[in-house]
Amino acid sequence: MSATQIESPRSPKAAAKVGSNRIAPQYRRNGSSKGNFEMLAWLFMRLSGVVLVVLIFGHLTVNLLVGEGIKAIDFGFVAGKWADPFWQIWDLAMLWLAMLHGTNGVRTIINDYAEKDATRLWLKIVLYAATTAIIILGTLVIFTFDPCPVVNGVQLPGGFCPAP
Ligand code: HEM
Repeated sequence: MSATQIESPRSPKAAAKVGSNRIAPQYRRNGSSKGNFEMLAWLFMRLSGVVLVVLIFGHLTVNLLVGEGIKAIDFGFVAGKWADPFWQIWDLAMLWLAMLHGTNGVRTIINDYAEKDATRLWLKIVLYAATTAIIILGTLVIFTFDPCPVVNGVQLPGGFCPAP
């Protein structure tokens, strides 16, 4: 029986073909410019994954299981949580880590599957623009959230806030 050698999927060779099936992606990578970014990105996925397990299961437990559980979730519940810097930092860490982890994962998928340089470039521009917008908006929401907004002298949404 002869040994089978499987080519590295990161091989910068032109796509190999067996019949009509491509069996290796066609990369033209220039190793010198990448430094150890890819190694750090690989490590980040593992470390952020471990931290995300704690953050996400903590978030689900406190929101869905503790006390009245899911029935307690409303505007006031969110306002109460974000009045506490502990939950602001918790949610901020969850937002940033999930976004950076997810974005880096999708970046890997784009690199693996988009074959044309232009396609890869545009997909990544859209990805990074969406990530930047969501991180900035989410961070602003966490830190500028006003539980008792007054619009044109009218208290919104009313109920648990003192009169203006
Ligand atoms: C619950 C905690 C999580 C853990 C433990 C975790 C773990 C991981 C690990 C270890 C990888 C790398 C896989 C590889 O390189 O082969 C990965 C990839 C990925 N993760 Fe997560 N992750 C978590 C949450 C998330 C969340 C919240 C998102 C979305 C925002 C996400 C999106 C992705 C994507 C898109 C990939 C790339 C998949 C691929 O390469 O095929 N993950 N995850």
